[in-house]
Amino acid sequence: MKLGPTAMGLRFSPEPFFDRVPAMSEAGTPEKAPSLSPRPATEDDIPQILELEARVQSAGWREDHFRAEFQKGYSHFIVLTDDETDSKIAGFIVFWTLQDEGQILNIAVDIPFRGLGLGKKMIQLAVNQAAKAGGNRVILDVRKSNLPAIQLYQGQGFIITRTHRNFYSNGEDAYQMVLDLTQKDPLDPRSIDF
Ligand SMILES: CC(C)(COP(=O)(O)OP(=O)(O)OC[C@H]1O[C@@H](n2cnc3c(N)ncnc32)[C@H](O)[C@@H]1OP(=O)(O)O)[C@@H](O)C(=O)NCCC(=O)NCCS
Repeated sequence: MKLGPTAMGLRFSPEPFFDRVPAMSEAGTPEKAPSLSPRPATEDDIPQILELEARVQSAGWREDHFRAEFQKGYSHFIVLTDDETDSKIAGFIVFWTLQDEGQILNIAVDIPFRGLGLGKKMIQLAVNQAAKAGGNRVILDVRKSNLPAIQLYQGQGFIITRTHRNFYSNGEDAYQMVLDLTQKDPLDPRSIDF
């Protein structure tokens, strides 16, 4: 069952914002395209989220990290599921809307669904929610080596503002990236309408 848009404090409209997308088979050929929609994650989604996290190693979160997000009123834990069964998760994002800023904590798109603009739309969703909540900026940390993610964020107007040395457990540095919501941005995140 799909949850309504107000669950977990979300205020975006319930209409699917992903058109039919051409999913790719393992062989790289287009499969029958599922229609996908975002909804708040539930406890039932956790096993599939953990499989996805293990597969794509987005942020190295454990089960307790994901479950903890359900306890935070400012956290938005969103999954993209197929409209037909609402059971297959193509991607997820975890972001916070705090008083002054939004923070993106984790994002992943499953491998067959990469390169279809889903990551971009989930970032836009988070940015839009942060702007609606009155945030002045959106902030995130990303591994210095994670070029796809860095380019995804830069494409949405984020800029690298500092480097956190030895940020990750393997000693890798992180870039802090920030999107300023007070400046007139070419993407005009406040105008994104779901
Ligand atoms: C990063 C990630 C979420 C991107 O998802 P996606 O749905 O494939 O991204 P999109 O299709 O929306 O692509 C948007 C932009 O991201 C960048 N991008 C995406 N994949 C890329 C790649 N393999 N190489 C370089 N840039 C890439 C491009 O700038 C792209 O814009 P373009 O299509 O106009 O060139 C996905 O690769 C992923 O899940 N990675 C593993 C998890 C992870 O690293 N998460 C981030 C850290 S928390």
